[in-house]
Amino acid sequence: MLTLWRHARIATCDEQSRVFHRGALVMRDSTIEWVGAEAELPAGLRPDRTIELAGRWVTPGLVDCHTHLVFAGQRAAEFARRTAGTSYTDIAREGGGILSTMRATRAASEDELVAQSRPRLRSLLAEGVTTVEIKSGYGLEFETEARMLRVARRLEAEEPVTVSTSLLAAHTLPPEFAGRADEYIDTICDDWLPRLAGQADAVDAYCEDIAFSAAQCDRLFTAARALGLPVRLHAEQLSNVGGSQVGARHQALSCDHLEYANEANAIALGRAGTVAVMLPIAYYALAETQRPPIEALRRHGVPLAVASDCNPGSAPGASLLLAMNMARRLFGMTSEEVLLGVTRHAARALALGAVRGSLAPGRAADFAAWSIDSLDELGYWVGFNPCSLVAKDGAIVLERDV
Ligand code: NIG
Ligand code: FE
Repeated sequence: MLTLWRHARIATCDEQSRVFHRGALVMRDSTIEWVGAEAELPAGLRPDRTIELAGRWVTPGLVDCHTHLVFAGQRAAEFARRTAGTSYTDIAREGGGILSTMRATRAASEDELVAQSRPRLRSLLAEGVTTVEIKSGYGLEFETEARMLRVARRLEAEEPVTVSTSLLAAHTLPPEFAGRADEYIDTICDDWLPRLAGQADAVDAYCEDIAFSAAQCDRLFTAARALGLPVRLHAEQLSNVGGSQVGARHQALSCDHLEYANEANAIALGRAGTVAVMLPIAYYALAETQRPPIEALRRHGVPLAVASDCNPGSAPGASLLLAMNMARRLFGMTSEEVLLGVTRHAARALALGAVRGSLAPGRAADFAAWSIDSLDELGYWVGFNPCSLVAKDGAIVLERDV
């Protein structure tokens, strides 16, 4: 079916970042066939249906490239302790934090995990998200890690979204391996990775004092890449233990957080073509004060993405629009950077840039329409969602009054 979407203001977020103030899109089934100024629509076009966008802004469907949205339970009591002064690290060392969510997630069935995770996913979809990355990492044992990946795939099958999965078995050391972190990494490399390689699109790890060392992440990534799996990394969030250097060495798709990254790290990421994913909700919720080195990342040509980090600990909630606002207000990113950070650069961080995250012929017909006057309003409003329509693979999947 050929659909013409007309009278739109369009930010393509493509390689030329083209903008059309009176634009149109032509979709054939699930693919974009043409995008441009309405005055230049191909002659003789005979659409099966025409949809009037009445001057609304259209962007690519948003891409949330870092989430832990599959988990059971919540950690509100820990949040209360943190606001009273106890640190995230202290809670983790006591066996709370990620391990607390591990216990709840291990105890949850696949159906329970789907039911608890779906509202978080829907909250993102209502904000124009059409592609989302989902990590495992709260199982930390084979069966629950596999279950989390299955839940992510089920959500993709049941909701209008493309899901990219990451195996984050190296999120923290499970109690079964206490004091034996190297053996845990060996188990992931030698046993779990080969068995889960078909279920995960990438391998992730948490490189931090309270998690895994740079050398351990290096070994994990060597094993992942030997199986043909790309890698991504939680790096330099609470300290600098050399994660981004390891990520760069393995041509990581992305290195995420990066509050404690330095100039040398930015150079390495720029050379490797790795995307730097900014997670300002985690920065905010942990009351961090060290900001990521945005200026150095810009200088060294590192593509910047922005993601929600949706998880029960450091970023409770499920809002990419809030992350965009915080990336601007807390990190000083521009509105253009933030828009590319949730479209083209985020898709690149998931190795999906050839199909998603931008509007161009041949790419997926994923887009969001916004009831806003100016593109600057994306990442401006707090607690207000101006998304009024979402198309996923050419089908209208959401319409809301704004
Ligand atoms: O991205 N840094 C590690 N992982 C998460 C937090 C996970 C949790 O606290 O449950 C993050 O911030
Ligand atoms: Fe994370």
